[in-house]
Amino acid sequence: MIRVLFVCLGNICRSPMAEAVFRHQVKEAGLEGYIEADSAGTGDWHIGKPPHEGTRRLLDANRISWSGMTARQVSDADWRSFDYIVAMDSSNMGNLRAMTGYQGDGQDQSKPKPELFRLLDLVPESKLDDVPDPYYTGNFEETYALVTAGCGALLEKIKAERIQAGTR
Ligand code: 4NP
Repeated sequence: MIRVLFVCLGNICRSPMAEAVFRHQVKEAGLEGYIEADSAGTGDWHIGKPPHEGTRRLLDANRISWSGMTARQVSDADWRSFDYIVAMDSSNMGNLRAMTGYQGDGQDQSKPKPELFRLLDLVPESKLDDVPDPYYTGNFEETYALVTAGCGALLEKIKAERIQAGTR
């Protein structure tokens, strides 16, 4: 299995939205037997809670399931069990690096090497580098559009790197 972890701050707005959207796209592509997704927050405030009402509303409106999803915090084990760790913004990247000491650049030979990047790094045409946090902006629609574009680009990247290359 190719494993993808989406990370934000609280794991109730952006990263669960990305997890649900990406899983939906993976299923539509018929790749659910090859790629799995999870999400986590760098913070611990919302552990055990379902996605934020605004995220749930957008997912429901787009007929995307969020069933069974609850917030959790990033753990050290995540660095060993995921192939791609996808941060929603630069602050998440900084927190991830501070929490683990892992730079995501393959320099530290003692650690495993999931690939670490921001979701919008995959969408060069986007004016934004960071997915805005709707917990503060209130604009879940803007976040949904960016997350959907980013997840689509991520799926294409994984297909090119891992599936067409012979994993399948
Ligand atoms: P998220 O948004 O990182 O997209 O889940 C936030 C949710 C909660 C908090 C901050 C951001 N909070 O401070 O509780």
